[in-house]
Amino acid sequence: MALSRPFQYAQPKGALCCGSVALEGLVRRFGTPLYVYSADQIVERLGLFQQAFAGREHLVCYAVKANSALAILKLLAARGAGFDIVSGGELERVRKAAPEALSRVVFSGVGKTAAEIDLAIAAGILEFNVESEAELELLAARARRMKTRARFALRVNPDVFAETHPYISTGLREHKFGIDIRRALALYKQWAGNRWLQAQGVSVHIGSQIRSADPFGAAMERVHKLVRQLAAAGIALRSIDAGGGLGIDYHGCSFDAAAKVDEYAAAVQQALKGFDGMLLLEPGRFLVAQAGALVARVLQVKRSGSKTFVITDAAMNDLIRPALYQAHHEIVPVTPRRGRVRVVDVVGPVCESGDFFARDRKLAPVEPGDLVALLDAGAYGMVQSSNYNTRLRPAEVLVERGKARLIRRRETIEDLLAPELV
Ligand code: LLP
Repeated sequence: MALSRPFQYAQPKGALCCGSVALEGLVRRFGTPLYVYSADQIVERLGLFQQAFAGREHLVCYAVKANSALAILKLLAARGAGFDIVSGGELERVRKAAPEALSRVVFSGVGKTAAEIDLAIAAGILEFNVESEAELELLAARARRMKTRARFALRVNPDVFAETHPYISTGLREHKFGIDIRRALALYKQWAGNRWLQAQGVSVHIGSQIRSADPFGAAMERVHKLVRQLAAAGIALRSIDAGGGLGIDYHGCSFDAAAKVDEYAAAVQQALKGFDGMLLLEPGRFLVAQAGALVARVLQVKRSGSKTFVITDAAMNDLIRPALYQAHHEIVPVTPRRGRVRVVDVVGPVCESGDFFARDRKLAPVEPGDLVALLDAGAYGMVQSSNYNTRLRPAEVLVERGKARLIRRRETIEDLLAPELV
């Protein structure tokens, strides 16, 4: 199957497009910095997951935190996706975008408040992924108050090492996430008969941007073993939640997404052979990262000693991944010009040395006024943006089958100052 690469240069003029829509035209309409997403690729990626697991009962619960734009949630819900949320705020986003999908929500997160739990119980979500014994107690107490039975899965920590950035690795005992898998059996036994709680499943999430399928398989094997032990003890779980974490290639164009999902699905399914309950999956990045770009304008090209700085109107407050995780994002000119490739730092206007998108990077020639696109910015881009330096957050555009529409207008200074009192 030919998979789409949304951001490509149009022939013969050679300007960068999202699908068939020229980015220059979008910038004329909506300004910079501008997030642009391909709806077609997001839908295609969801389809890859759904096809890879078609042979078994499953539900793809998109991790809302990766990109929580209402229009994207609606797009995914319409194609049968559920959602993995980590806050009451994300629950409200699902409610607003696709109220019919509330019953397909799983609620993860290491510190849920009573108010958030109440909101989710009332919304009738599918399950709570519970991260501690204290949270189980809290969930039972809230369910009791609301005279209902809450479905839960323990999020276990399988103690599996996954090669990724330390800030986004979660599956080792030393991490704050989950319940030690060796404790889980006893906890299920202790809580199984509770009137206000129903043991629905078990969940796991070992980290993010994991490129190899092996750690997923290893984690699932440990989880499956636990499920078998529980079954032997008379506790039959309905679902296993495999979490998210499947990584992408931020460096290049030879990424075969379909093969990656197939490899991942094979590892997960192999480890779960014999389990015929429901499989939940929580991909975030894989569905949206490569569907998005951040388009920025070059303000200045500044030479200082041996360095050349390309200063753009986007900054770390718009896309913090390079500053926070030393993450790599390809940067390309929107309209290529002739000339030599230069080694430059691409930086923003924020008053921090950490405000960079690339350091000592070979960049095609750009001049002040040119547009550049930071690729693979669809996940953990806009959602991690801030107003640092009192900068207004970018607008967002969704391109679907050749048509572009604004899905979030650019923030105004009035928006920003509204909550403040003098
Ligand atoms: N499920 C749970 C419980 C999670 O904690 C996460 C991500 C996901 C699913 C989705 O993982 P994904 O498929 O997107 O890898 N800000 C970082 C990534 C943080 C990931 C946090 N948890 C970044 O920009 O790389």
